[in-house]
Amino acid sequence: MSRLIIVSNRLPVSLDTTPDGSHTLRQNVGGLATAIGPYHKSHRDCLWVGWSGVDPEQYSEQELADIKQAYGQRRCVPIFLSQDEIKGYYAGFSNDTLWPLFHDFSHEATFDPGDWQMYQQVNERFAQVIAPLVSKGDTIWIQDYHLMLLPQLLRSRFPTASIGWFLHVPFPSVEIFRSLPWGREILQGLLGADLIGFHTVDFVVSFLASIHRLLPELSVDTDGMIGLPDGRQTAVDAFPIGIDYNLYARTARSSLAQAMRRGIEAAAGKNRGHRYRSSVAAEGDAAAEASSSEGSWWSHHSLEDLPELTLAQSAASSIGQKANKVIVSVDRLDYTKGLPERLEAFGRMLEKYPEWTGHVTYYLLATPSREDVESYRKLKAQVDELVGQINGRYSLLAWTPIHYITRSLSIKPVCGMYAAGDVALVTPLRDGMNLVAKEYLACHDGREGALVLSDMCGAADELTDAFIVNPYDINMVCEALHDALEIAPDEARARNIRMQARLKVRTASNWCKSFLNTLRQVTTPGMVDK
Ligand code: G6P
Repeated sequence: MSRLIIVSNRLPVSLDTTPDGSHTLRQNVGGLATAIGPYHKSHRDCLWVGWSGVDPEQYSEQELADIKQAYGQRRCVPIFLSQDEIKGYYAGFSNDTLWPLFHDFSHEATFDPGDWQMYQQVNERFAQVIAPLVSKGDTIWIQDYHLMLLPQLLRSRFPTASIGWFLHVPFPSVEIFRSLPWGREILQGLLGADLIGFHTVDFVVSFLASIHRLLPELSVDTDGMIGLPDGRQTAVDAFPIGIDYNLYARTARSSLAQAMRRGIEAAAGKNRGHRYRSSVAAEGDAAAEASSSEGSWWSHHSLEDLPELTLAQSAASSIGQKANKVIVSVDRLDYTKGLPERLEAFGRMLEKYPEWTGHVTYYLLATPSREDVESYRKLKAQVDELVGQINGRYSLLAWTPIHYITRSLSIKPVCGMYAAGDVALVTPLRDGMNLVAKEYLACHDGREGALVLSDMCGAADELTDAFIVNPYDINMVCEALHDALEIAPDEARARNIRMQARLKVRTASNWCKSFLNTLRQVTTPGMVDK
């Protein structure tokens, strides 16, 4: 029986070790895991190979055998990497060279031959672990930028195997890609695959331009077929990834998500508005009274000196005219996500439209990521500071503009957050697809809710009814955010229905089928999975 072997840097499950030393596996919530996870779960002939995330030095031989067994029960094959390998291959070459380069952040990229060496070594380790698992007729589907040499390493061992590779991040323009000292080797590594997939046609075009520039000896036909010296061909195409729409729509209706939603709405003064309004009003009134009472110390200060009073008053004066609203965003704390720019736009909106003071609360879930990479640590400090500045400047005693959460939340509370958001603010500076935008819409199945979306991500090609913005244009994001908060419910619902209809069809499961069917067609013409 032929099998599918999925390979990615991270496995779809992570290991938790309880204090009594027993091991449990927890489902990861990252895009890749949620997109391919259900396919892997429902196909008994499907194996998943990846890094365990476990430091083998911390465990005895027996414990490592137990861990392998626990993964095995989930049809996962863990690879154990040493601290040096993690540093050079994962933190170094993958996340400090390829990641910034592929997201147009060349200035953040480092080019360290030691990291490149480790990247080659770990790709070879993956090949060694996978080789004994492969049988005739198997399909191997490799994921993402961590494993760009693996297609060729496997091809040299299995000349007739069916091998696919998919990139979950953008592919940069040739001008950026050619600055990578090992660009030719990377492209040659990829060309071991029969099918190479990207999220958008733009990324396909950029990739073919790099092939043309760095490997001019190869021919590329008009269908994106690359002819190779050994007579093989590699097909290249766009496969925009989707989400499990029903899973998100259903999870948003679960009792835990609904409890989270109600909690956020109550904290933001929605629904239970009376009690909340009265406390803000009291604060506004107190400020107004203080600023007008002759003889008190307040009278020695102008209102300009006491902007908080002005803000409290404006909040109080607008009470009753404006419904309270919630903005949400969910990101890994990554410099490609545009968090500082987004915060600046939110701050500008509070400044330009003070009537929102006391009436809009921004729930910002930003999960720390890759903290062993310097640029990520710097970003965390910058975002912490910006949130502090905005909260410090605009808070009232009974209202804080930004609720900043830097923990990892599981899918139910995240769906509750999405469901509570009148507006989702999704403004990456560069992103392959961005599934957050799609997840937000699924959590608003049949309901209003407005999406402000960056035009620098693959999702913007599909979600054209969103408020599309240039994430670098602070004024534009500020105005779009204001418009999204003000949108009439009927219009919001109508826009969503159009976008949701598309997401219901272009699901993660259909994306998997589409890629694998194409892979089968290019390797064994005529074979299609129903
Ligand atoms: C991106 C990549 C994934 C990666 C994820 C989380 O979405 O495309 O391959 O797993 O980020 O990053 P991490 O470094 O924590 O795996």
